[in-house]
Amino acid sequence: MPTALAQASPNIAFVKYWGNRNQGLRLPSNGSISMTLEGLETRTSVSYLPELTQDEFWLDGSQTRGQQLERVTKHLDHIRSLTDMRSFASVESQNNFPAGVGIASSASAFASLTLAACAAAGMDLDPKSLSRLARLGSGSACRSIFGGFVRWFAADRHEESYAEQIAPANHWGLVDLVAVASRQHKAIGSTAGHALAETSPLQPARVEDAPRRLELCQAAILARDFSNLAPIVEQDSNMMHAVMQTSTPPLLYWQPATVAIMQAVREWRRAGIPVCYSVDAGPNVHCLCLDDAADDVARRLEAIEGVLEVRRAGAGGPARLL
Ligand code: DP6
Repeated sequence: MPTALAQASPNIAFVKYWGNRNQGLRLPSNGSISMTLEGLETRTSVSYLPELTQDEFWLDGSQTRGQQLERVTKHLDHIRSLTDMRSFASVESQNNFPAGVGIASSASAFASLTLAACAAAGMDLDPKSLSRLARLGSGSACRSIFGGFVRWFAADRHEESYAEQIAPANHWGLVDLVAVASRQHKAIGSTAGHALAETSPLQPARVEDAPRRLELCQAAILARDFSNLAPIVEQDSNMMHAVMQTSTPPLLYWQPATVAIMQAVREWRRAGIPVCYSVDAGPNVHCLCLDDAADDVARRLEAIEGVLEVRRAGAGGPARLL
């Protein structure tokens, strides 16, 4: 039976992807840089079964239908079109982290799905080609093919937009402490959000300035320079939220606790603690810090009113077959 099992981890972007120049192909408006997260994993198995009359997708033990299933089928159709495989597939995906804690599961989901679906169909692709394919399923998934610190290139053509590792996981002891401020499901997910980006008059300025942020961020990572990394990570997050908040309709993902955490993080950094924040399309705050400071920062975060939980992850490894 043509079957394969793969594992991938989510990632947190330091310079963020928001908006596409081609929504269908997920060709992003700007490049981005992320850290793959250790210990958080999605495992996905793909089995092509001749007896199936359509694909099936099981997520954390429950069978999915509707949009979730359609998105997986669309991705499998693309992979099948590159091979001789004509059978439908049974896909089972399991996350070892709960949904709704502010850690994007679409990145690890589509990275592991791409790897497993290609392997089961007999395709042996290099990481760059896998990254390109994973991008079609979920933009941020192209970064989760790689471990450590990763850069995704923006381009006008499918062939030229993929991710690459800029430094391995053991390059730098950075820790992501995710302060969970709400477990509620977000009203507007990333895919719909990307489509709104260009309705904000601030998006052109954000995109135009992206090469500067990317160079500063990459240089700070390569030099292990936290004091240069922190302001650019916070500025990039703030610029994305400025675009979100000024799109039509506007997207305001922050809750009172989100703002309280951001303010506390800035205060702590002024007092000399190496920590900065980054917020994705949700209310939870990713607090990036050096590992020496992580215990102290985690305790401080837990003491903030409205913080429900703090999750911890260092830099993790690449997507792999099991
Ligand atoms: C705010 O990759 O989840 O986390 O391509 O539609 O699946 P789709 O969107 P997705 O967007 C991620 C948005 C972000 C920033 C980032 O991770 O770069």
